[in-house]
Amino acid sequence: MKFFLDTAVVDEIREGVSYGLVDGVTTNPSLIAKSGRPFREVIEEICQIVDGPISAEVVSTDCEGMLREGRELAQVHKNIVVKVPLIAEGLKATRIFSEEGIHTNVTLCFSATQALLAAKAGATYISPFVGRLDDISHNGLELVQHILDIYDVYEFDTEVIVASIRNPLHVLDAARMGAHIGTMPLGVMKQLMKHPLTDIGLANFLKDWEATQKG
Ligand code: G3P
Repeated sequence: MKFFLDTAVVDEIREGVSYGLVDGVTTNPSLIAKSGRPFREVIEEICQIVDGPISAEVVSTDCEGMLREGRELAQVHKNIVVKVPLIAEGLKATRIFSEEGIHTNVTLCFSATQALLAAKAGATYISPFVGRLDDISHNGLELVQHILDIYDVYEFDTEVIVASIRNPLHVLDAARMGAHIGTMPLGVMKQLMKHPLTDIGLANFLKDWEATQKG
């Protein structure tokens, strides 16, 4: 399973990279706004830090506008993945990007039928938002399983990025299902490393070692 960081804050990306755990980065307009930096500048910097797919989202809602923005973004760096919303115009744009060899991440996916359409349009990645579904009492991870089942039956190449991950259980269940990628905040990535018994065990080992050093 590949791990992506879901952030546009470069210090967080550098920290994730220092653990050797970051295979790619996803951003969206809200995350760019949160970084407080100009879009293009921050995307260029992320491409220098991580050698993997970097999703940068278009903000047009018509196919022509998406194509214009996406083609410009694709010029920034070879690793740029153009993030496109899962609306009819987005599917049109995804098909054209796919014919042009531009990688796409179709985002804001909340149903398996939407995911089926994205794969048929030639999406490189599909991003089901598990946390936002859980927020409205729908099982986000069940959606991931449905998408994986459909993609498996038809042997689509589209990879599933489990997005809107909020906690380690989302990562655990996505991994058990064989989802290709999980994109998560740095905080969740760090939670995955932690176990209180590891900390207690290490403290005891060090205390016992100290005792062997006396006299
Ligand atoms: O990248 C989009 C997605 O991961 C957003 O997550 O927490 O805002 O629902 P969240």
